[in-house]
Amino acid sequence: MASGLFAAREKISKLKAILDLGFKAPIKETDMVLYLGASHGVTALLVSGMAGENGFVFCVEMSKDSMKYLLKVCETRANMAPLLFDASLPLQYKGLVAKCDVIYMDIAQKSQADILKKNADMFLKKGGTIIFIVKTQSIDTVKAPLLFLEDLKKQLSWMEIDFIADLDKTHAKHYAVIGKKK
Ligand SMILES: C[S@@+](CC[C@H](N)C(=O)[O-])C[C@H]1O[C@@H](n2cnc3c(N)ncnc32)[C@H](O)[C@@H]1O
Repeated sequence: MASGLFAAREKISKLKAILDLGFKAPIKETDMVLYLGASHGVTALLVSGMAGENGFVFCVEMSKDSMKYLLKVCETRANMAPLLFDASLPLQYKGLVAKCDVIYMDIAQKSQADILKKNADMFLKKGGTIIFIVKTQSIDTVKAPLLFLEDLKKQLSWMEIDFIADLDKTHAKHYAVIGKKK
């Protein structure tokens, strides 16, 4: 259970926002999870709790500043490992990450859909779960949301989308795309 400042931050977690909207987060005990964009570890900690002691969370983060906080969080959990890497270069951490049941990605980058595919090709099991947090502004500042989502679905044709959660109420211009690798 998080406390103090961490508990306050947990409230702003996008995963928490998905759950609060009534969606079921498809992360279960024993899952191996690749978390891209772990930042300070707020949501990664929630994911670690869901995966349980027999699951594992590989936490990729490229910012050295964020890594200082992430390291401290990972020290408190036996099922979390911090990895200081750029998620657009998955070959660099290939030997460090196992085949995964879930990829959780929240990197707010323009090329996020391509980066997700590269990682899914390398690490995600067939039928594995994808939780992809997208910020419309990270990709295109001009396109209206509906057009943006249609384009995004085309880019994600390799995955079977179960649902798209609109997180705008708590996280402006954010959606969560949740589904499986075909
Ligand atoms: C919106 S924050 C993530 C917040 C986090 N998911 C949470 O809920 O606690 C985005 C993070 O992605 C990281 N990031 C952006 N591009 C990245 C990349 N190519 N590889 C790894 N991390 C990246 C940023 O440094 C930042 O910490």
